[in-house]
Amino acid sequence: MNVRILRQLTPTSPTRWEGFNVDVTDDMSIAGLLDHINYNDDIFDDQGNLTTRIGWECSCLQGACGACAMVVNDQPVLACETFVRDLKGSTIEIRPLRKFPVVHDLIVDRSSIHENLTSANVCIESYDPNETGSQAKLVKRQRHQYEIAKCLKCGLCLEVCPNYTNGLTFFGALFANDCYLVAMRNKSKAAEIKALYGEHFGRDCSKALSCMDVCPAQISTISSMAHLNR
Ligand code: FES
Repeated sequence: MNVRILRQLTPTSPTRWEGFNVDVTDDMSIAGLLDHINYNDDIFDDQGNLTTRIGWECSCLQGACGACAMVVNDQPVLACETFVRDLKGSTIEIRPLRKFPVVHDLIVDRSSIHENLTSANVCIESYDPNETGSQAKLVKRQRHQYEIAKCLKCGLCLEVCPNYTNGLTFFGALFANDCYLVAMRNKSKAAEIKALYGEHFGRDCSKALSCMDVCPAQISTISSMAHLNR
């Protein structure tokens, strides 16, 4: 199969597409495919030219850390969770996430995600033991909170968001979900969260909701929005 990868040596180098002919199998993941290309000491492109190892990030290889987020055939995905059998066509096109500055090849600088969350101070301090409501409502709420806690902060939701631009004041779906989590777990922060949610999410979200289509943890951002708005 022909695999095309958008390469960029350093943050300031020009970008270029490089092709590789790879013997793929249906059960190979994109992470496995990148490892396969990087495996040999000498790596050749599809023109027979000697080239360098492809830069990409991974850690868990089981969809739990978010490190391997990238764009494959125009879809923002986790490389370790995306398999060749799920892709259409005879070419695989891989590029880095487009909303973040490129560090090297498929590695991007996503530090703005953490800077945004830290600057807004949305972190859980303690569980509120006085949370009230019927048992059924509590269970439903806690289930949603557990779901949000699975957020990988991988940035795929920001990749597809028509309103997100790195460095601007709109922080995206992962911020809205964390706002809900903090507001529910720490009622003393509710007023502060209300202001932050409005400023960094509520005011600019156009409700395209494509974030929910690509979230590897399948977090229902619209539920968080509904709770927060209420
Ligand atoms: S390597 Fe952790 S999500 Fe892919």
